[in-house]
Order: sequence, then C-alpha cells, then structure tokens
Amino acid sequence: MTTTAFYDSLCAQLAGLLTGERDWLANTANASALLFMELPDINWAGFYFLHGQELTLGPFQGKPACTRIAVGAGVCGTAVETGQSQLVEDVHQFPGHIACDAVSASEVVVPLYHGERCIGVLDIDSPSVARFTEQDLAGIEAFANVLLQHSDLP
Ligand code: SME
Repeated sequence: MTTTAFYDSLCAQLAGLLTGERDWLANTANASALLFMELPDINWAGFYFLHGQELTLGPFQGKPACTRIAVGAGVCGTAVETGQSQLVEDVHQFPGHIACDAVSASEVVVPLYHGERCIGVLDIDSPSVARFTEQDLAGIEAFANVLLQHSDLP
C-alpha cells in the first residue's frame, strides 16, 4: 500500500470512528488510540492542549509524558510559536527538544487551529531516525483535519 493510500484509509477509519460524537476530549482520546494502533514504528501519539502560553498534556497513547510545555519550547512549543508543522528527522539534532521518552528518535508535530486560534498540537514520536516523510506529514495533517471537522472545538 502506498503512503497516500494508507493515510486515506486511516482518515476514513477516523471519520467512521468519530461519527455521532463531537466531544473534543472523547475524539482526541479515540484519535490517539487509532494512531497508536495503526501507525507502524511509533512509540507515542497524543495531544497537548494550549492554555494561555502553555501546552498541557491531553489524551495520548504511550509512556507517561511531560505535562507542561511552554510556547516556544521543544518541538511542540515551536509548532505553536511558528504555526507550522514540525517534521524532525533526528530529535537529538533539534535545539531544545524535550525528551519525554529516551527512545524517541524522530517526531512530527502538527498545530491544531480553531479558526485563527491555536488550540493545541498533535504529536507523534518514533524510535527510528527519519521515520516520517513529507508524505507522512501530509497524511497526519489530513488526519488532524478530519478530527477538527468532526469535533466541537474549545
Ligand atoms: N518531544 C516533545 C515533547 C513531548 S513528547 O515527545 C511526548 C517536544 O520536544 O516538544
């Protein structure tokens, strides 16, 4: 299966899973579970929610993680500060990377928006260097859009 076909299928699964439920907490919880179940070679998938100038840990799958990240700090805080998705091939080369799990080697973070306002991030970690390609990023952004469209946002 091509990467594009994989994410098309994953987005369809998410849309099905979220049909009939618009609660943001419930939907982010199920979205993290679906990512963790379906994405090969990852060790963490979940959400941080933006409250003021700080991200707070939300629903996730994987090992327990740091609970608070300042805007501008780490990969997650950089995604919020810049408003840009972050595709990090080797987290050990990323200045200020926050190591919640020592095995994490690469990471992708997508900022989530309610209109113009950032409400949090979707963060996925892998134990393999360069696990995520630009095609993965595009697929994960599409996944995040399905989640946003199916939920009542804070
Ligand atoms: N590595 C992230 C912190 C969150 S954990 O990966 C779950 C960062 O640098 O922002």
